[in-house]
Amino acid sequence: MWKLTIIKSCLIINRVKLTIRFNLLENLLVNNGGNMRFFLAKDTKEVNTIAYNLIRAEILRNPKIVLGLATGSTPLGLYKLMIEDCKRGNVSYKDVKTINLDEYIGLPDNHPQSYHTFMYENLFKDIDIDLKNTKIPNGNAKDLAKECADYTAYIDKYTPDIQLLGIGSNGHIAFNEPGTSFDATTHVVDLKESTIKDNSRFFDSIDDVPKQAITMGIADIMKAKMIILLATGTSKTDAVYNAVLGPISEDCPASALQLHNNVVVVADPNASFMVRTKGVNPQ
Ligand code: PGA
Repeated sequence: MWKLTIIKSCLIINRVKLTIRFNLLENLLVNNGGNMRFFLAKDTKEVNTIAYNLIRAEILRNPKIVLGLATGSTPLGLYKLMIEDCKRGNVSYKDVKTINLDEYIGLPDNHPQSYHTFMYENLFKDIDIDLKNTKIPNGNAKDLAKECADYTAYIDKYTPDIQLLGIGSNGHIAFNEPGTSFDATTHVVDLKESTIKDNSRFFDSIDDVPKQAITMGIADIMKAKMIILLATGTSKTDAVYNAVLGPISEDCPASALQLHNNVVVVADPNASFMVRTKGVNPQ
């Protein structure tokens, strides 16, 4: 049994596939006991405010929250909101712990393109967090296997209350590319040629792009109590569709999220286009 209910800007999807066309930009909720809330944001700005309101409410409820963070262009607007509100004195990160998804192997932490630098420059330096409470994989560890095992152990000890995710246009989450086992914990990945090429825009030359990274595996990501996936732009529309309404398959790493019991997807009109217009095939 299922019912269609209307609420503001939110659509809940679960694994029971329904034949529905999502033509409205907002005000849709499909509720069949679903496990995924899908916010159809009006624009990128609203993606950031919806995500921030969720995170802010959790931090105010639990000032000692463990926050899983992501790099990439998608969360930048959200990080600006976190900074502004912290500077206004509304939210404090004094007791918050953070843990990041991934880091390149072989870049010094202070390299302009390391994720250590990204997080410091785009968030940590402007909020009142204690840097000792921030955790990012050490891509320069002598024993990378040990670093990965220790990272997974850290996640087991300080399991994120919220894990923030972006999504790649091929459905990757963190550096988990299509074909990655859903059972993988934190591991070393050889970056695909396409990823090296995509990321080369940030480096002087393609030869400077690291060839490997450490990434939380999907099994580690799935441990988070709540997952918020942000998606903006037309290049993400197929990936978002496959993630939330496609088959659960290693071909689309983000489709693993359909197996999690508390996922929020926030997408702008470009990224949600396929979900809204193609709808779902009955199964
Ligand atoms: P982006 O990357 O936020 O820069 O689009 C997302 C990702 O590849 O996970």
